[in-house]
Amino acid sequence: MLKSVISLLVTSVMVSNAIDCSVKELQPYNLESIKGTHSFSTIKTTPPTKTNITWTLGICEVISSDKKSDLQKCPQNSDICGITSILRDNEDPIISEIIGFNSNLQKSFDPLGDEGAGGIKIRYSGVNWGDSLIDAEVSFVCDESVKESHKFELDGWNGEVLKVSMKSKAACITSDSDKKKNNDKNKNSDKKKGDNGESWGWFTWIFIFLVLFLSIYIIGGAWFQYNKGNAIDFQSALKEVLENFFTLLQGLPNFIREILEKVVGRSNSRGDYSAV
Ligand SMILES: *[C@@H]1O[C@H](CO)[C@@H](O)[C@H](O)[C@H]1NC(C)=O
Repeated sequence: MLKSVISLLVTSVMVSNAIDCSVKELQPYNLESIKGTHSFSTIKTTPPTKTNITWTLGICEVISSDKKSDLQKCPQNSDICGITSILRDNEDPIISEIIGFNSNLQKSFDPLGDEGAGGIKIRYSGVNWGDSLIDAEVSFVCDESVKESHKFELDGWNGEVLKVSMKSKAACITSDSDKKKNNDKNKNSDKKKGDNGESWGWFTWIFIFLVLFLSIYIIGGAWFQYNKGNAIDFQSALKEVLENFFTLLQGLPNFIREILEKVVGRSNSRGDYSAV
């Protein structure tokens, strides 16, 4: 049990480490079909040098790179990573800027076109980078004709706002059964994951709170015991703390059942509502 909870914690932490495709705003689309690390570069002549800006986005999956790649220098947990290098004749490039849009930032989702039929735009705003705050807009634009060779395009980067977009069939509203067909077709070993992203999410939080709560309780109890008696009787203090702890544990199943009922009850009514 404990093992599975821990592995659950670890995977849910890892899953958030890219553009997270399990969020409900992205559910109507099929971004799973274009998951992976997507990079593109722009080269500009900036005499006496050239400037190479490479943007990399992780869709549904952590940005991955081999050991030698500059991508290793991307900040941890980046959804989007920008690396600028200065190219000079006969010399090694110098990396001059590294920008990361962190996965854990609050993002907003704007459906495009009629009720999102045109795709979806993800916005990052007010991201700290050096002395400035920068924004990004990543648009996935529905285009039924683009089924392979998905490419991001740079729509703008002025040092403050980054705009990138990709045309793809993956950004068209797709029914669940079509998604499954499509993903089986493209399939590889990857099992479809993240369907229950949200429910694992709250479960993880409850677990974290429980652990925190219990630790505070135990530490607090020990401290109290320690303060109470002038003579430090660790053995009886420990015993008492443990006894309290077990009493608490016995109450846990009921507590959890109550929480579960609340959550399930609520999500049911929400489902009814959205079905209207
Ligand atoms: C630009 O930078 C990227 C990432 O570091 C690199 O893969 C690419 O080869 C560079 N392009 C040129 C022309 O140097």
